[in-house]
Amino acid sequence: MRVGYVQTKPEFGKKKENIDNAVALIEQVDADLLVLPELFSTGYFFPSREELVKYTEEIPEGRTTKLFISLARQKKCAFVIGIAEKKDGRCFNSSVYITPAGDVHLYRKVHLFYKEQFIFNRGNLKFKAFPFYEYRLGMMICFDYIFPEACRVLALRGANIVCHPSNLVLNYCQITMPIRSIENRIFTVTANRVGSDTVGDETLKFTGMSQITDVDGNVLVRAGKHKPAVAVKDIDLRKSLEKMPTEFNDLIKDRRPDFYEELLR
Ligand code: ACM
Repeated sequence: MRVGYVQTKPEFGKKKENIDNAVALIEQVDADLLVLPELFSTGYFFPSREELVKYTEEIPEGRTTKLFISLARQKKCAFVIGIAEKKDGRCFNSSVYITPAGDVHLYRKVHLFYKEQFIFNRGNLKFKAFPFYEYRLGMMICFDYIFPEACRVLALRGANIVCHPSNLVLNYCQITMPIRSIENRIFTVTANRVGSDTVGDETLKFTGMSQITDVDGNVLVRAGKHKPAVAVKDIDLRKSLEKMPTEFNDLIKDRRPDFYEELLR
């Protein structure tokens, strides 16, 4: 299975250019799955809810989802893309999984980061593992990574690969995702952005270093910090069906939930 990330450099608000630039990178590769950054078409740092609303789209009716449905069919490639979603007067920071057959699956960011809390609604969909060829694919968005529960529940629900559209600002993620892989024996694809967004006198700088990790926590490929990039790796998802780091230990079956009661509160 050939899976990859597309690392882009969005300019805030320039939707057409941002989409065109992402598509130009996508055209350079053949893959079975490509993951794009969080909010890849709009940019990240919205000054207000009013400004955010202007850029939101409905899913799947919106133009960006429609475009990627046709791209998925044409390239016979699945996509996971980050979109600012509008739904019944609410705004979500969402991730859309589009299959080569044109099926659309949705996740809405559960753990909002920093000032996102003031403009987005909190995600209201459960973490789910969607069909991906003969395997299962889960989604989380950026800051979700710092809550190990997110990845764990995706693994418990059967995800073999976790797609992780991101706009990373802190420096923790690239060292954390290999651990998420080891804990759950899953593959991960983090698609981050580069560049910066500014609101007033505050600038957020994004860290790049998109990466793919395997079930042993190896980083199979990692992008640089400053430039757009695309990379694809051949991975064997069968490895994520095997949850035993030794012949006597199973990461899923050996758990002792009776000892973790607080995690459920
Ligand atoms: C983030 O959640 N965009 C850091």
